[in-house]
Amino acid sequence: MGKKVVVTGVPGVGKTTVITGAMEKLAEEGTLYQSINFGTFMFEVAQKENLVADRDGMRKLDRDVQKRLQREAAAGIAAASGETNVIIDTHSSVKTPNGYLAGLPEWVLKELMPDVVVLVETDEDQILMRRLSDESRVRDMEGARSIGEHQQFNRAIAAAYAMYTGCTIKTIQNDNFLLDNAVAAMVEVLR
Ligand code: AP5
Repeated sequence: MGKKVVVTGVPGVGKTTVITGAMEKLAEEGTLYQSINFGTFMFEVAQKENLVADRDGMRKLDRDVQKRLQREAAAGIAAASGETNVIIDTHSSVKTPNGYLAGLPEWVLKELMPDVVVLVETDEDQILMRRLSDESRVRDMEGARSIGEHQQFNRAIAAAYAMYTGCTIKTIQNDNFLLDNAVAAMVEVLR
C-alpha cells in the first residue's frame, strides 16, 4: 500500500512549489510519488458543465455544487491513486462568500484516508505579497489579518481530520528566501 500525503495551505502560500521541489529531490533517491491536484479534478467537471471560466471561480459556486464537485473529485482520486505513493494537493478549508467550507469533510476523508496532512504556512504578509505579484490567477482581495485567520482556521479543522482518520498533522514553514528549508522538511515527510 502506498503512502497518502495530503498537502494543504491557503492560496499563494506556495504548496505546489514546495511539492514540486520535494518530488524532484525524492526522484533522485528513487522514491517516486504521483502528485494529484484536487482542484484540477473539480475543475475538469466544472468546465465540462460550463459552471466556471477559471479555477478560482469554483470557490464562489453554490455550496451544494461545490460539495458535489468535491465528492466526485474524491472518488476520482481514490480510483486513480491505487497502490502508489500519492500527494494530494488541496485545501484544509476553502474560503467561500458564505464562510469556510471544509476541504476534507467526512465523504472526502473516507475516500482518501491520508497517512499525513501537511499544512504549508508562512507569514500572512508574505502570502499577501505573493498573491499580489501572481498575475496568472484571480486571487481574492483580502488583507493580511484575514489571511492569518484562514491559516488559524486550517489548523483547527485539521485537528478534526486527525481525530477522524488517525492521520498525523505536520506544519511546514515556506518563508521567503527559505524555500530549500521547506522542500527539505517536505522530503522528510514523504520519505
Ligand atoms: P488550487 O489550484 O489548489 O488553488 P490555489 O490554492 O490557489 O493553489 P496554488 O497552486 O495557486 O497555490 P499555491 O500556494 O500552491 O501556489 P504556488 O506554489 O503557485 O485549487 C483551486 C480551487 O479548487 C480552490 O480555490 C477550490 O475552489 C478548489 N478546491 C481544491 N481543493 C478543494 C477541496 N478539498 N474542497 C473544495 N474545493 C477545493 O505559489 C504561489 C506563489 O508563491 C508563486 O508565485 C511562487 O513562486 C511563490 N513562492 C512559493 N514559495 C516561495 C518562497 N519560499 N519564497 C518566495 N516565493 C515563493
